Amino acid sequence: MNKISDIASLEKVFLDKVFDSTSSISKKWPNLEQVGVGKTICLLFWEPSTRTKLSFEHAAKKLGFDVLDFSPESSSIKKGESFEDTIQTLLAMKVDGFVIRHPEDHISKKITSMLPENIFYINAGDGNHAHPTQAMLDVYTMKEKFNDLANLKLTILGDVDHSRVIPSQIELLKKYSCSDINFLGPESLISENFSPAFSDVPKGSLAERDILFILRIQKERFKHGDGLDEVNFIENFQVNDKFLKNSGFTGFLMHPGPMNIDSEITRDVANSKNSLVLRQVENGLYLRAALLSLIL
Ligand code: CP
Repeated sequence: MNKISDIASLEKVFLDKVFDSTSSISKKWPNLEQVGVGKTICLLFWEPSTRTKLSFEHAAKKLGFDVLDFSPESSSIKKGESFEDTIQTLLAMKVDGFVIRHPEDHISKKITSMLPENIFYINAGDGNHAHPTQAMLDVYTMKEKFNDLANLKLTILGDVDHSRVIPSQIELLKKYSCSDINFLGPESLISENFSPAFSDVPKGSLAERDILFILRIQKERFKHGDGLDEVNFIENFQVNDKFLKNSGFTGFLMHPGPMNIDSEITRDVANSKNSLVLRQVENGLYLRAALLSLIL
């Protein structure tokens, strides 16, 4: 397995290996086995990123890889070179593997079929389709707190429809027999593909839930006709002290980042003792190092 396009195409035995290796790397960091020496990895990010791009770069360097950072804005893409010709050009420069983020839905399938067998590839987010490494690091973080995911009670709050994280996360949780997942937010952000979904928060309604996974409003992926009353969203769904008190939620809070403070979450809640937000970021570093070690 050297091409990670989505979660559906991965065997559970491989995912178990990724999680075991993540745990082992977290204990060894920063003294990692130099599996990347003599190999070159290229990061191609057509969309902005802090967590995904820099954790891959940091992890790859700690494993001994040489890292090339391709930036579309300062590349020959600006002179009209196509995506396909860019990849062929980088292959001719003897790149051994790619980490690619791109706004086009499902481009990961096209990339997988374009690349030679010996070249590795990791999808770092493609349009609205998938973000497999974010799902892996989130589920790894959930497993740290609740080893048996089959009994986990998860509520996903906010802009589910425009998230590429959530389809990957649900697919991955299914592989670990987690079925108690529900959705909370305005009807305009949660289509019927995601159920059960709730658009109000009666008193005490989240008291039994283990994890509240909060999403920002991903306006950059809104299509023509998508809309949201943000004032109403904040009034009803912002995770703040009043929301927590009313809903009775006392479990762990997660967010894939970036957070929009004072939109979907307040600073106090993001920094509270039950927040796993920075633990997710840290685990992302270990998990991406584990994945790079396993796909060579
Ligand atoms: N969660 C996530 O993908 O963050 P970045 O956009 O910062 O990589």
